[in-house]
Amino acid sequence: MSSPDKIVIAHRGASGYLPEHTLPAYALAHGMGADYIEPDLVLTKDRYLICLHDIHLQATTNVEQVFPDRARDDGRWYAADFSLAEIRRLEAEERLRDRFPRGSSRFAVPSFTEMIELVQGLNERTGRKVGIYPELKAPAFHRAEGLPMEEALLEVVERYGYRGSEAPIFVQSFEEESLRRLRELGSELPQVFLMAEVEQYRQFLSAEGIRGVAEFADGIGPAKTMLERQPELIGWARDAGLTVHPYTFRADQVPDRHGSHEAELERYLFELGVDGVFTDYPDRARAILDRR
Ligand code: G3P
Ligand code: CA
Repeated sequence: MSSPDKIVIAHRGASGYLPEHTLPAYALAHGMGADYIEPDLVLTKDRYLICLHDIHLQATTNVEQVFPDRARDDGRWYAADFSLAEIRRLEAEERLRDRFPRGSSRFAVPSFTEMIELVQGLNERTGRKVGIYPELKAPAFHRAEGLPMEEALLEVVERYGYRGSEAPIFVQSFEEESLRRLRELGSELPQVFLMAEVEQYRQFLSAEGIRGVAEFADGIGPAKTMLERQPELIGWARDAGLTVHPYTFRADQVPDRHGSHEAELERYLFELGVDGVFTDYPDRARAILDRR
């Protein structure tokens, strides 16, 4: 038996096993039974969306070796300063020291279109209907750089057939203005408002505040600790018609109070009753849901 209404979101792909935001990590997530696969997105200077968590390149690529003279004055290599052709010359690397061995095998930074084509190709071959869950990273930064993200996102997803409120996609952002902009541009795609435990989100942490989110989103994506601290957020979200997808569940970073990764997942999925989880280990969440 399974819990079909709750979803497994592969956070940066199956990033507990392979370097985040690489095509192998996305493919593995698909094979492990994820319902949605998450690409974080930033823009290149020639306006291509690429799959990358940071607006900088140095934490997850070998950009320092390939382009030693291209850092800004702050010592960082910004993706927005590079063309897609230049990004293709980089190798992607594991971010965390205790995960996939750094320097082993070869990985690239995918474009968003390559990610979509991989997922859609695997869907075609397997008969599964895995969705995508793109996050616009730092839209205000990009806009200030003359690189509006919302138009770029909508152009790509519409080209690949994601249209309307039933499309197998959630568009997520930490920035309210960006989600509102997408609606102004006519998008009816499902949207999720991400929230972190910082001051700017405090205004949303009440029944009234959460109702306000429903003006521009269909769900919330809170840091999981926010739900432990304030579990009533889930009921308020549900009353406002919003889904709840907390982040991030990691088998190699389990908070002491839960004892095990599975116990932590059980707590959020079945005691607190969230609608889905962002996880680096999609196989483990899939197994929990399939047991119910
Ligand atoms: O998008 C949900 C979660 O991924 C937000 O955190 O920093 O991993 O993108 P981050
Ligand atoms: Ca993300």
